[in-house]
Amino acid sequence: MKEQAIKIALLAPQDGEAVAAAEGLEKRKGLRITKRAEHLAKVNGNGVALAKSHDIIVFHAGSVDDADLKAISGMKAEGKSAKLVAIASETMKVSDLFRLRNAGVTEVIPDSITPDDLYEQLLSYAKSLSAEARSGEAAQTHPHLRRGRIIAVTQSLGGIGSTTVAANLADQLQERSSRFSRTEANKVVLVDLDIQFGTIAAALDLEANELLFDLAMNGDVPDAFVIEEAVHRMDSGLAVLAAPDQFAPLDALKPEQLKALIANLRLRFDYIVVDLPRALVDWLSPLVQETDLMLMVTDTSVPSIRQAHRLIRFYTEEKNDLEVQIVVNREAKPLFKRRHHKAAEKALERSLMHWLPEDPRAAGKAIDHGAPVSKVARRSALNKSISRLGRSARKTLEETKKQPKVVKE
Ligand SMILES: Nc1ncnc2c1ncn2[C@@H]1O[C@H](COP(=O)(O)OP(=O)(O)OP(=O)(O)O)[C@@H](O)[C@H]1O
Ligand SMILES: [Mg+2]
Repeated sequence: MKEQAIKIALLAPQDGEAVAAAEGLEKRKGLRITKRAEHLAKVNGNGVALAKSHDIIVFHAGSVDDADLKAISGMKAEGKSAKLVAIASETMKVSDLFRLRNAGVTEVIPDSITPDDLYEQLLSYAKSLSAEARSGEAAQTHPHLRRGRIIAVTQSLGGIGSTTVAANLADQLQERSSRFSRTEANKVVLVDLDIQFGTIAAALDLEANELLFDLAMNGDVPDAFVIEEAVHRMDSGLAVLAAPDQFAPLDALKPEQLKALIANLRLRFDYIVVDLPRALVDWLSPLVQETDLMLMVTDTSVPSIRQAHRLIRFYTEEKNDLEVQIVVNREAKPLFKRRHHKAAEKALERSLMHWLPEDPRAAGKAIDHGAPVSKVARRSALNKSISRLGRSARKTLEETKKQPKVVKE
């Protein structure tokens, strides 16, 4: 399929502040840039035409005045038109940000953004536009878009260790699979969607983050700017979106908010590891649809296997071809599977694929230090098993990437 360039109008008035990050944008792959040496307010009149003939309009929002706002609303009033992206100073007043948003600016990016990040953001906006317009064909149209893989971690019973699995798996996934070449680490983000009882912040000694609380309370669809602000970067390079400290009503988040969050993270990370809440809420639906691999953390007792089975049925009804693998926690892999293991496999219609031994010393050390097991107990049995889990998850995802998707009748 022929690749279509993303049409971008860049307003770079000669007397105005230059957008440093936009330097050299025209040389980037997949973009077709029209530079206009005019202010936003001045393109009015042919601004509407500009908005109709481009996918995105990028402009520098210095001081926001009424003429700018009028130009923006004019462009937006004309039905199908470009996405408006304002590049603004980090010191811009919140009231000005609101005025821009209310007038119809869809995204506001800080002017400190690097050229690479700006490029990625523009690709990301183009992808969401294409998704809106052509229901998901964007990846085919722009194959150079990065498409991170989503691993969702869930549990058959509380306290079984799903957060431990999610946090340590995310840590493991940062390593590239090649043992012999030192290449750049994978970009991994760990997302705590257990919005009421999430413990990732505590486990990694981080502050809580109020993004998901704010979204639940104000109903906004998050853009790249607010998501970037909310993601914490650990020294190891692992990115973490922690759960809020304040209690948000569990059903207050909306599917479209999750959709935007996932779409954004997928463009910026190679792996998105999600710690799921125990409750089954409708806003999880877009996440389940996009999940590439679900890990069900359980023990092998009859009640746990029964719950695991119910949950797997629920999730696979949501997405027929969802890949669900079982992680048995707190039990070393047996040499021979016992009778109750075989019964569990039969009930779950899947093998008990991954096993993590009971290792209170390593798990306790990790909690005490607020660090992954790989850092504080590298030689422990738990770390070795998690590392195996990481390699296996990477392999599963590589294989599913290669296979064309088969749609079940
Ligand atoms: N394999 C293991 N060996 C020993 N201790 C473990 C193991 N896995 C997890 N733990 C410990 O069990 C406790 C609960 O783990 P964790 O918070 O990961 O469970 P969870 O399933 O996410 O719980 P919740 O239902 O509260 O979300 C933690 O103290 C953790 O250190
Ligand atoms: Mg947990």
